Amino acid sequence: MKKEKFFVTTPIYYASGDLHIGHAYTSIIADAVARFKRLDGYDVLFLTGADEHGQKIERNAEKAGLTPKQFVDKIDVKFKDLWKLLNISYDKYIRTTDEAHVKLVQKVLTKLKENDDIYKSEYEGLYCVPCETFFSEAQLVNGKCPDCGRPVEKAKEESYFFKLSKYQNFIEDVFKNKENWLVPESRKNEIYKNFVEAKLTDLCVSRTTFDWGIKVPFDEKHVVYVWVDALLNYISALGYGTEDETLFKEYWPANVQFVGRDITRFHATIWPILLKALNLELPKHIHSHGWFVTNSGEKISKSKGNCMDINILSNYGVDSIRYYALKEGPIVKDVPYSTEKFLNTYNSDLANDLGNLLSRTCAMITQYFGGIVPKANSLTNEDYDLVKQSENLIKELKNLISDYRVDLCLNKIIELVRSANKYIDITTPWVLYKEQNIERLQTVMYNLYETLRVVAVCLQAFIPETAEKMFNQLGITNSELKTFDSIAKFNNNLSGNVVVKGEPLFKRVKVEEELTKIENLMKNNENKGADKKVEETKQEVKKAEITIDDFDKIELKIGKVIDSVKVENSDKLLKNTVQIGNEVRTIVSGISKFYKPEDIINKNVVVVTNLKPIKLKGILSSGMILCAADDEKGLLTLVTTLKDIPSGTEVC
Ligand code: MSP
Repeated sequence: MKKEKFFVTTPIYYASGDLHIGHAYTSIIADAVARFKRLDGYDVLFLTGADEHGQKIERNAEKAGLTPKQFVDKIDVKFKDLWKLLNISYDKYIRTTDEAHVKLVQKVLTKLKENDDIYKSEYEGLYCVPCETFFSEAQLVNGKCPDCGRPVEKAKEESYFFKLSKYQNFIEDVFKNKENWLVPESRKNEIYKNFVEAKLTDLCVSRTTFDWGIKVPFDEKHVVYVWVDALLNYISALGYGTEDETLFKEYWPANVQFVGRDITRFHATIWPILLKALNLELPKHIHSHGWFVTNSGEKISKSKGNCMDINILSNYGVDSIRYYALKEGPIVKDVPYSTEKFLNTYNSDLANDLGNLLSRTCAMITQYFGGIVPKANSLTNEDYDLVKQSENLIKELKNLISDYRVDLCLNKIIELVRSANKYIDITTPWVLYKEQNIERLQTVMYNLYETLRVVAVCLQAFIPETAEKMFNQLGITNSELKTFDSIAKFNNNLSGNVVVKGEPLFKRVKVEEELTKIENLMKNNENKGADKKVEETKQEVKKAEITIDDFDKIELKIGKVIDSVKVENSDKLLKNTVQIGNEVRTIVSGISKFYKPEDIINKNVVVVTNLKPIKLKGILSSGMILCAADDEKGLLTLVTTLKDIPSGTEVC
């Protein structure tokens, strides 16, 4: 039978720096849903990726002394390592620097222009660089960005505008009539009131003050606004607009798009309008989750310096992070996070309830039956509740997941675990053994064993590493016994299986001690400091071996600096005029901290002459002057020649 398709997406993450637990939250929810649907027989496509353009990335790359592309390549490795650590089972990973994506964005811009959806005008407004968003004076909070609280900059520039206003009736209709369009209702109402009812204004969709973006195809001094670039990832990843649209035809529209509450507005207004302008269907459902916040309700974010290092938390097992995020996260509200709360949940739910149930059951089957699962005899009233609760579990989870309530799913699973622990207390197997009531003891141990299998099958979607460890200790290797179908009915035929006593799933910890340990680890991290991190970023860029033919592609020539001035508003850049044979070029270099203009005028330098020109601070720079540099030691020197030699001479 052909499987039903299911397409789930996360937002694509800004490749401007490291990710934290708040970011991971979106991916962990989407991953749990993707895994659940796969287990439920769907043909799932799970998409995630990286948002790699924009001014913030350009600036961070400059700080790290890298080109934007080198910078995002580096971040790409870090992102993928993090998703691997957290077991995020994406099927497709898109980067907005992918050639196919760039082409699609340009194609869309051209189409919008042809359809008269885009016009040229001038934009004057207040721009938040980290959020890549313009705001009006009225939208600011205490004069700062309403989303992240950072200062905004005045920006005025010639821009292209997307006629959102033309789609006012359309978007009103979506909000009023599209079934299951956006959850939670409260956020939907808020966006409707503040943005839709307040009337959409046309959207500035191009920038000219920086370069790191996709060029507007009909006016190359403009780059495409990052939100338009980024939103289109959801269809470019499926091959939309290419020769092979198979994936697009099979999987679009998305079943669910998970987004954090800060970016819901873009997904609920600009995104549907873009799709409508392209005559495409809207996603079936947008699910907006709350933020990870501190005890005092402040959003966890890098800029506020209040986030916990995922690597440190992973010392307690990656599944402890996944479990906390999924269960403690009431996904329609904010998720309070504190390390103390994290450790308490770890101890109570994972070490005590789940871990103990497995270790006690395996230990008793080993002690009373030599590790061999006994047969189940007739049930008594004491057993029915547990059996019923086990049998109902998967039905309940399927219902809850259809509303994407991963939090309630884990609550249900842990309820069954607690019932099983209670069942041990009520049936007291050690007394049955002492009294040699073996027939009853067999039934009790069997019921506990089968309940644990049901729990493990369900946990595969949420904490997959733990589920696998449970299967190992329960001696379950047959993949048929790991399916959802296999737990629809309490299975009474597993006697003869052999349990394997293993390591505790989660070792109980002393919260106070761990808090101190974690605090020290965090301090160590802080001492490393941001500069050190930038340095690491640089060191890790190991270049691949090249052939002489590769080297031959680089044209190096001697140049003579004939003029040099400091670039306005930059403490790093000098704008140099360089004579190279008969040619005179402008080359911008990041050497101003080390050389005054007069130090380098009339000096010979080595120039990469066939490097593609780029704009730096609005100045077109044609070529690169070579230096030897060690940022950590604060050293930099221009590469020059031992003898005077005419400019234009080739360096080989
Ligand atoms: N690049 C844009 C998305 C473009 S999608 C077409 C972006 N990236 S992001 O890296 O800043 O955020 C990615 C996701 O992480 C968003 O869903 C955002 O809401 C989420 N989170 C970032 N900090 C968060 C918390 N503290 N808590 C929960 N999620 C938050 O936005």
